[in-house]
Amino acid sequence: MSKREPSDLKAPQLRRSPGTSYQRILDQDSRPVPDHLRIDTAVFVGDRDIPIDRYMDREFHELEKEKIWRKVWQVALREEEIPSVGDARVYEINDISIILVRVAPDTVKGFYNACLHMGRRLLDRPCNLQEIRCPYHGFTWNTDGRLKRIYSMWDFPQIDARKLNLPEVKVARWGGFIFINMDPGCEPLDVYLGELNRHFEKYALEERYTAAHVIKVLRCNWKTAQEAFMDAYHVVATHPQILSSAGDDNTQYDVFGNCSRAMTPVGTPSPHLSRIPSEEDIAANVYRPRDSSGGITVPAGMTYREYGARVAREELRTMIGEKADELCDAEVMDSFFYTVFPNLHPFMSYSQTVQLFKPYEDRHDMCTMEILYLRPFKGERPAPAKPHFLGPDQSFLEATELGASGALLCQDAWNVEEVQRGMRTLRVNKAGLTLGLYHHTQVRHFHNLYERYLAL
Ligand SMILES: [Fe+2]
Repeated sequence: MSKREPSDLKAPQLRRSPGTSYQRILDQDSRPVPDHLRIDTAVFVGDRDIPIDRYMDREFHELEKEKIWRKVWQVALREEEIPSVGDARVYEINDISIILVRVAPDTVKGFYNACLHMGRRLLDRPCNLQEIRCPYHGFTWNTDGRLKRIYSMWDFPQIDARKLNLPEVKVARWGGFIFINMDPGCEPLDVYLGELNRHFEKYALEERYTAAHVIKVLRCNWKTAQEAFMDAYHVVATHPQILSSAGDDNTQYDVFGNCSRAMTPVGTPSPHLSRIPSEEDIAANVYRPRDSSGGITVPAGMTYREYGARVAREELRTMIGEKADELCDAEVMDSFFYTVFPNLHPFMSYSQTVQLFKPYEDRHDMCTMEILYLRPFKGERPAPAKPHFLGPDQSFLEATELGASGALLCQDAWNVEEVQRGMRTLRVNKAGLTLGLYHHTQVRHFHNLYERYLAL
């Protein structure tokens, strides 16, 4: 483990792709562009190699358990998974188990999921609780955590029952997600999220329902997996089929406190292409994988981006009404991939996807990638999709609810498991991963925070 070098903080000139900048693409928008898209932080986040050990060694997993997972705000579930008073779910992170229970219509509490008597896990499945009762010897608590009953109390003269309430974790909410934090002295969630609130406010993730929920086990470290989504640099080699309609090299990266983002224009060709595709080619590239009817025809004199935005607004209007007309082309077309340290990746605006990564059980060499599709709805809130679990040998293609994204995710999943294998060989000759200075802004920013938490 090497200490952070002061030289890392000296910024060399930050270079950008010679392709059109994202801000220039926003200049072409047919509607006013909101302020949060106009921020261009251009922060230098370091140029050092990222040490491979932290992806490979159990020692780092143990450090992460103590210094990250027991200290940070992390998503445990969606509000809609426990809609009624008494509804309870278990959230597990590494070897720690937490019960989330709705104790009042607008109050959710979190408790460590272990009996204070003999340590049995109190709950192992979703249920609706009147009380929390250990199945082993029957120690029982009210759903608000107050001790309710101990059989043969005469045999426990040494305990003070008033001090035997279930220990709690902090609970807070954002965007329809319930977060927990095991650190009693942590800062409030809204302070932790900082500017994120302002960026997402307009898109009200709390007013969405979970239309798809897929959990896939991957044979790699959780950081390896999530980093495969934190740059647009991999598109040219991993997803060449979308280059006609994805401005990968035009991507703008920003950092905001504990968060970062990548904004990639869609419906505009990659600067890597030697031939500029026609507007029809771009349209076909976006629509053909989704629509077997042959896609759309771009009206004469329009760019595909303008026309695609109009079509997207019409689709959205059926769900969010006139609010759709206030959205600029970028808001309905582009990819806004945000990262909230350590493991949450919500897409801003209406592209619906949220990704979550964490270690699988207590493994440092396996993880889960969760994908949620959060869709707006009209009328009564639809029931959330049940989690669709895919084991390590199953493919994202089996989750047909993911639509056209399934094929892209297969390409990414193939990479991450091969990276985990390759790193074992790589470290015979090389101690670190050599990242770009700009395209890997999000990954570098993550590792700067990671090192701060781990005090490396
Ligand atoms: Fe990808």
